[in-house]
Amino acid sequence: MYEVIIADLLSHPRVLETRHHMHHSIPKHDHMMRVVRYSYRIAQLFRADRRTCARAAILHDLDSRLGTLANHGAIAAEVAASLGESDAVALAIISHMYPLGPRPTTREGWVLVVADKMASLTDMTAFVGGLFTGRSLRVRRSLCQTDPFYTPRRPRRRIRRLWRSVGRLGLSGQA
Ligand SMILES: [Fe+2]
Ligand SMILES: [Fe+2]
Repeated sequence: MYEVIIADLLSHPRVLETRHHMHHSIPKHDHMMRVVRYSYRIAQLFRADRRTCARAAILHDLDSRLGTLANHGAIAAEVAASLGESDAVALAIISHMYPLGPRPTTREGWVLVVADKMASLTDMTAFVGGLFTGRSLRVRRSLCQTDPFYTPRRPRRRIRRLWRSVGRLGLSGQA
């Protein structure tokens, strides 16, 4: 089963932290696990290596915020390589955003493209479904608190403070 193939990665801090990061308005970890499950199943159809597919899937969106839709595959592939993953895993990750990014060059790359698209659709369907119960917005709000991409950055805080002080001066009529 795929859990055994990726057991070491599931307990890796870089993967664990994605439980608190947002992707498609859901935890990034949920998205990546969905891609693992789909990749593992599709791999057989494509006659691709299941181990490569599952390992690429659980890492394929790490640090995606640092790049664009087209190039974040290359960023995640670099992270995977730095964690000791094979060239085959890195190659599959690089092209997972096809046709926005580069075209896959391996069977495992094609598996990841298809699995990622299917998972993204399911993510969005799950999010919309959860709007009716309020769960989706609750989870989204909590992810905004824990994802460093959304936590307030210093320059923004400084500008807010400046804006408030200018406003007060303006109101009291003092220069
Ligand atoms: Fe991605
Ligand atoms: Fe993805």
